[in-house]
Amino acid sequence: MDINLIDQDFYAQHGPPHEQFAWLRANDPVHRHPDPDGPAFWAVTRHADVVHVSRHSDLFSSHRRLALFNEIPEAELEMQRMMMLNQDPPEHTRRRSLVNRGFTPRVIGRLEQHIRDICHDLVDEAKGRGSVDFVRDIAAPLPLYVICELLGAPVEDREKLFTWSNRMIGAEDPDYAADPAEGHAAAMEVYAYANELAAARRAEPRDDIITRLLQADEDGEALDEHEFDLFVLLLVVAGNETTRNATSGGMLAFFEHPEQWARLVAEPRLAATAADEIVRWVSPVNLFRRTATADTVIGGRPVREDDKVVVFYASANRDESVFDSPGVFDIGRDPNPHIGFGGGGAHFCLGNHLAKLELRVIFEVLAERLPKIAQSGPARRLRSNFINGIKELPVALA
Ligand code: HEM
Repeated sequence: MDINLIDQDFYAQHGPPHEQFAWLRANDPVHRHPDPDGPAFWAVTRHADVVHVSRHSDLFSSHRRLALFNEIPEAELEMQRMMMLNQDPPEHTRRRSLVNRGFTPRVIGRLEQHIRDICHDLVDEAKGRGSVDFVRDIAAPLPLYVICELLGAPVEDREKLFTWSNRMIGAEDPDYAADPAEGHAAAMEVYAYANELAAARRAEPRDDIITRLLQADEDGEALDEHEFDLFVLLLVVAGNETTRNATSGGMLAFFEHPEQWARLVAEPRLAATAADEIVRWVSPVNLFRRTATADTVIGGRPVREDDKVVVFYASANRDESVFDSPGVFDIGRDPNPHIGFGGGGAHFCLGNHLAKLELRVIFEVLAERLPKIAQSGPARRLRSNFINGIKELPVALA
């Protein structure tokens, strides 16, 4: 079989290369993969091996060459390395423990009513129009409005954050960015924006998560200014595109499996297990990168110090040795040991409780209020091998 797991055009046309993933899991689960734009890398496709890599940050660093797939120019490495996503313990542990307190199930649970109100408002607005683009009008605004609420960003700034966020994640997609440099420029704008926001919150504290993150914890520790700005930048990227694409990808999965939609409409409480199944099925984050810190072994394959290692969550989430009928979209699947939020370990998704809450509530509201929602045109996919994204999904609501 021809293997190319990084062809952006393939993702734009078909989504993740599930046939190739299945072949690799069976025949060459830790595969030496060429890359014309960078060093060859190890493509890790089995659930157990992705978990192994994720849980051993001593052996597989997020810091040496960062956690993103693309090679980062030397000049940019220093700034990127200050970001939690690109750090290893113990630096990572300190920063992570400072922000954890804003994202516990209890703190996030308090947002449920607010999230429900946003979902109803979005449905009210869409219903008035009869047919809409599900991505632009429902899936994208929900996490965007929630992040703006977390940040205490004024309503009039939402559009700006939407554009920046699209440019950063769509840097390889001509619909969103003329060239990858635009993605970088957008990141700089968000960084500057975070700085202004922090200054405003320091001058005028509020009872919100961001104000709490700016204050010192019980041990007197706090994020410094630079760390805070980078954290906001990370939140804008990590919290927006992922949840947006889980929501759009989930809706598309329901259109492709109408019996599952009928099940949800009959029993909206299934939205809780559906949220996890959607994250497994869609795997909004396709991959992350690590760099080996020593000669070691992954799934029996010898790997050398400094080798590039890429874990494919979208593949691990269809691993037939872990999931019964992994190719079946089953919203009642329980247990569901998917690793769409990461394979455990230090970097496990900080926003997982928030993302699952948003997914549960939006699909409860959609099943109750728009049971007859139907796809009215082809879905257009994002040109990205990093985010399994959907750019456009026309729907009729009547
Ligand atoms: C990290 C997926 C939503 C914030 C991650 C990782 C994945 C992921 C795969 C990396 C895990 C690892 O390296 O082991 C997702 C998916 C989401 C989602 C699929 C939605 C369905 C969110 C939301 C937020 C968020 C809503 C915040 C509001 C973060 C942060 C990190 C992260 C800050 C870095 C954590 C660290 O480095 O310690 N996410 N995420 N994510 N996520 Fe999410």
